[in-house]
Amino acid sequence: MRKTIVAGNWKMSGNHIEGAGLAGNIAKGLEGKSPGCEIVLIPPFTAIPDVVRTVQGSIVKIGGQDLFYEEEGAFTGEVSGAMLTALGCTYVLVGHSERRHVIGETGDILRLKLGAALRAGLNPIFCVGEVLDEREAGKAADVVSGQVRDVLGGLSGSDLAKVVVAYEPVWAIGTGKTATPEDASEMHVVIRSALADLFGPEAGEETVILYGGSVKPENAGALLEVPDIDGALVGGASLKAGSFLDIIFSVR
Ligand code: 13P
Repeated sequence: MRKTIVAGNWKMSGNHIEGAGLAGNIAKGLEGKSPGCEIVLIPPFTAIPDVVRTVQGSIVKIGGQDLFYEEEGAFTGEVSGAMLTALGCTYVLVGHSERRHVIGETGDILRLKLGAALRAGLNPIFCVGEVLDEREAGKAADVVSGQVRDVLGGLSGSDLAKVVVAYEPVWAIGTGKTATPEDASEMHVVIRSALADLFGPEAGEETVILYGGSVKPENAGALLEVPDIDGALVGGASLKAGSFLDIIFSVR
């Protein structure tokens, strides 16, 4: 049985005070409830300590938005996996499309980052997704399975079991355009078969795969009820406690 995860990627939004406020409102909304999913907040680095303190004692887990591939040293501006675990993080995003397309991270870098996350004991949430031109050219499946092979291909089966994959079509991120449940389902099947080719049928069946891209309370129910979609990676709608809680409670 795969678990369901609803994760909120706050991106570069809010300072540590605002982050603690948002986390507090989310934790309050979860009090006395038993959601049908694991909940992960992914704040900017600067807000992590306050968010961790705020959600202490609740079921909420914390992730980092990125990490560097070296463990320590003269790498100005970078943050290591061990620094994230020391703060209480259990997850980290690797290869978010904004890291790939705005910052320019390549498969080679992401492979190193994924390895560093696993060595630090973090569960990587590895993001894949095609841009609009690739979808319109009928290449979405090839692009996404290529990203899976390129970065996850060299892992051991036991390391793969710690990885969550997030399918985030780049054209759906922050645009208000969501993949239909059918399109998302098709791509999740593409990812499962790439994983099955690489690691065997069980890996294809057991890997948790989230959908991300304009997930909102209005569309979350239909997306989350697709059998191959195991949860959501939410951007904009995770910045308001009410809409994030509505998405969490749309998991059945
Ligand atoms: P939006 O939900 O704002 O489209 O962002 C999705 C995303 O990139 C989550 O990582």
